[in-house]
Formats: sequence, C-alpha cells, structure tokens
Amino acid sequence: MNFNLSEEHIMIRDAARNFAKTELLPGVIERDNLQKFPAEQIKKMGELGFMGMMVPPEYGGGGMDTVAYVLAMEEISKVDASASVVMSVNNSLVCYGIYAYGNEAQKQKYLIPLASGKKLGAFCLSEPEAGSDATSQKTTAIDKGDHYILNGTKNWITNGGNADYYLVIAQTHKEKKHHGINAFIVEKGWAGFEIGPKEDKMGIRGSDTHSLIFNDVKVPKENRIGEDGFGFKFAMKTLAGGRIGIAAQALGIASGAYDLAREYSKVRKAFGTEICNHQAIAFKLADMLVEIECARYLVMKAAWDKDNGNDYDLSGAMAKLKASQVAMNVAIEAVQVHGGNGYVKEYHVERFMRDAKITQIYEGTSEIQKIVISRALLKD
Ligand code: CAA
Repeated sequence: MNFNLSEEHIMIRDAARNFAKTELLPGVIERDNLQKFPAEQIKKMGELGFMGMMVPPEYGGGGMDTVAYVLAMEEISKVDASASVVMSVNNSLVCYGIYAYGNEAQKQKYLIPLASGKKLGAFCLSEPEAGSDATSQKTTAIDKGDHYILNGTKNWITNGGNADYYLVIAQTHKEKKHHGINAFIVEKGWAGFEIGPKEDKMGIRGSDTHSLIFNDVKVPKENRIGEDGFGFKFAMKTLAGGRIGIAAQALGIASGAYDLAREYSKVRKAFGTEICNHQAIAFKLADMLVEIECARYLVMKAAWDKDNGNDYDLSGAMAKLKASQVAMNVAIEAVQVHGGNGYVKEYHVERFMRDAKITQIYEGTSEIQKIVISRALLKD
C-alpha cells in the first residue's frame, strides 16, 4: 500500500492551492454576500484545465485521474465551495457523463467545449417531487420519430443560469418506470426552454441554482445519451462518480475551516495565553484533525477504486456520507474556536458552516448514502 502522492499529483494539488489563494480568496466574501457567480474565475479554471480534468486530451480535457481531481477539488473547496461546486458538476456529472456514455458525435460537439472550459454544463435530475426519489420523474420526453418533445420542470439545478449545455433526465415511457427514462443533451436558447428564478440559498451563494422550465422543447434524437431507456442507469452511474467529487468538496470545507481555526488559536489570547494552550481548544483541534484524516482516507479510497476499475458505488457513498458529516461538524467547531469572531463574515468560518450543510443534501442526501451503503452490506 502506497500512501505517497506522485509528483504529478503534488504538482496539480499545488497549482489548485495557488489558484485558490491568489484568484478565489480575494473576492470570496463579496461573491457570497452578493450571490455573484465567479464567472471570471471559472474561465481561468477552464484555461488551467480544471473543468474537464478526467477527460482525455483528445476531447479537450486534462487526461488526469480521479485522485488528481479530488486533490484539486479539496484545494478549491478550502477557499471557495461555490467555485468548487461549479467545477464538480462540470467535471464529474456533465463531462464524465458524456465521456463515459455519450457517442462520438456528442463528444465532438459537446464534450470538447465543456472539458476545455469554453462552455459550462448542468445536470438536471431533481424535480419539485423527485429529488431523492429519482425514479418518479414527471418531466416527459415524447418520441416523435426524429426528435423528442420535452415538457416539465427541474428544480435546484446547479449552474442553472450560467450553463450552456444541460443534461436533462426525463420519462419517455411511463409504464416502464425507471426502464423508461432517458437522458438528453439540451442547449440553452432552444425554443421553449426557460431559465426559472434563482434560489436565494443559505450557502454556496456564489453558485447559481435555478429551476428550469421545458415547454414543448424539441430535442433531436441524436441528443439522447445511450440506448432507449438508459437514462436512469446513466443518472445513477454518473451520480456515483459525482459523489466522490462532493466528498472531496466536503473534505476541502473541513480542511479550510480547520486551518483557519488552528491559525486563529495560535494568535488569539485569553486568560493570559494563546487559546491553543488551553486543552479546551487543543483537544477540539485534535478531534477535528482526526476526523478530517478519516474522511480523507475514504475519499482517496473511492477515487482510487474509480481509477482502478473497481466498483465505487459503495466507497463513493461512504466517502460522501463521512466527509459531509465531518465538514459540518468541523465547520461548527471552527466557529466555536473563533468565538464571537466566528460569527462575523470577515473570518470566513461562518461561510464554511453555511456551505458545509449542502454537502449533506445534494447529489444524494446522507440518508440516500445510507440506503446505498445498507443495500450493499445486506446484498449477500
Ligand atoms: N449504477 C448502475 N445502476 C444502478 C445504480 C448504480 N449506482 N443504482 C441503481 N441502479 C439501477 C438498478 O440496478 C435498477 O436497475 P434494474 O431494475 O435494471 O436492476 C435501477 O437502477 C433502479 O434501482 P433501485 O431499485 O435501487 O432504485 P430506487 O428507486 O430504489 O432508488 C436510490 C435508488 C439510490 C435511492 C436512487 O434513487 C438515488 O440515488 N436517489 C438520489 C438521487 C440524487 O442523488 N439526487 C440528487 C440530484 S443531482 C444533484 O444534486 C446535482 C447538482 O446539481 C449538484
């Protein structure tokens, strides 16, 4: 077993760390306050190869592995979880989904601009009544020969307003239940496709989350991904990889909050000494670090499973469950270490606490991860 990172992995991690410090940190509080999408920063992340990391170079990507991707995700999330969710959706749901399951024409037309960061993608599964219960899709795609007619509403769509291409999951044959679901690539601007209102969120406020309305949108048949009826499996497979990305995001939120708490504890004085000299604080830091390391091993194991052709449904679900719990707990403790200052925006940790919560909700709630894990452990 080798726990050392390769030189290439260290280089990628350091490049992401440097980018986060120089390009994301300066405006992160303002973007959170104003709910401002990090458009300029995402463009630069595209130029640096962070938007299609796991896609081979011939399709515009960085040709890197999942370990490299989670290292970069952690570094970006240590500073700006809004930017990292934009990166995560584009990388692990949209680019990976098209790369793994799209046909050559779809890769040429859509994947190359998405992976090279020239275009942005969104993944549209959730609906007002189908978030966790993904088989209950109400959005319909009716087969009209050479095209489908798409009708329905999607909710809580990350990158909803800023994306160019949307992977949309819809019910084609209702009677076939999950075997009658398909996934389609839909372009912004097509007739009948309307971007709904932007959500005013607790956290990850720099990212844009919208509902989307499809009203008789004509989708060419060549934009369907895979065989007829493959859509649900496509969504599940893609989300299984997406969960590794969100686990890495959660790990980054936890590490970022921990770093700030540790630094603060070394300069803040109370009762005649720096607060890190009080066991009440030092023990908190020790607990935070141990939890972060537990999460890190699970995240790395899931990434390694994916890179080595192992099943990663279970390891990805375990990584996401644990890392998101750790993000939440560590962020709360980081606020506590900061005392009154922790409640103030300029110290950043209150934002980490707000941002952490979503990692327990999106790409499958913690309860969904427990369904995946418990089904796997009871299988035989
Ligand atoms: N890989 C491949 N196939 C899978 C699979 C996987 N990981 N998981 C399930 N399937 C297949 C099953 O094999 C089954 O197919 P067959 O009938 O052919 O055998 C089919 O899918 C149905 O499986 P289940 O009976 O297990 O389905 P279920 O209704 O019980 O649901 C679930 C399972 C795990 C709860 C699933 O519905 C789920 O993951 N829900 C959560 C969805 C989710 O993550 N939503 C978040 C929205 S996306 C988002 O947040 C993006 C964003 O913008 C940030």
